[in-house]
Amino acid sequence: MSHASDNAGTRRDFLYVATAATGAVATGAAVWPLVDQMNPSADVLALAAVEVAVGDVEVGTQITVKWRGKPVFIRRRTDEEIESARATALKDLPDQDSRNANAEGTDASDQNRAMDENGEWLVMMGVCTHLGCVPLGDGAGDFGGWFCPCHGSHYDTSGRIRRGPAPENLPVPVAVFLDEETIKLG
Ligand code: FES
Repeated sequence: MSHASDNAGTRRDFLYVATAATGAVATGAAVWPLVDQMNPSADVLALAAVEVAVGDVEVGTQITVKWRGKPVFIRRRTDEEIESARATALKDLPDQDSRNANAEGTDASDQNRAMDENGEWLVMMGVCTHLGCVPLGDGAGDFGGWFCPCHGSHYDTSGRIRRGPAPENLPVPVAVFLDEETIKLG
């Protein structure tokens, strides 16, 4: 093998490692502060179902909980966010499926994704459907919902993909209100 090809191989290896490390850092930065904050024990993480207290979540904010090893976004939406989501025509949605485990086979109307009839509560996996990064929330992106900076996927206020490489809406996991202040995941 010549020196030239050795160098080329080394450079390729380096680029691969550098890219992988960047991805790990980006994901870690989004996920691990949450874990530190919650400090869940191993047995809690292993639970198939978790109950989440949402009584303190203000309108226009969201919390992120870790469930089955993945982040779940629980957002209490403003009237503007709900109106924006409900005013969007189905034909403008790249993914027409609700991706809601509680309403399988339904279309991607906001009514089929929100937890409650009024649409105040939206619960979904915080995992980009492109390659699995954790999207940024709180009105990020061109559609006022979530934005995945990894490759530029924009999600609207219903968590539906609107632009970018992600193929599907952010999935809604099995979830139910146990009472007005408690959501059970799983
Ligand atoms: S992982 Fe989100 S856009 Fe690629």
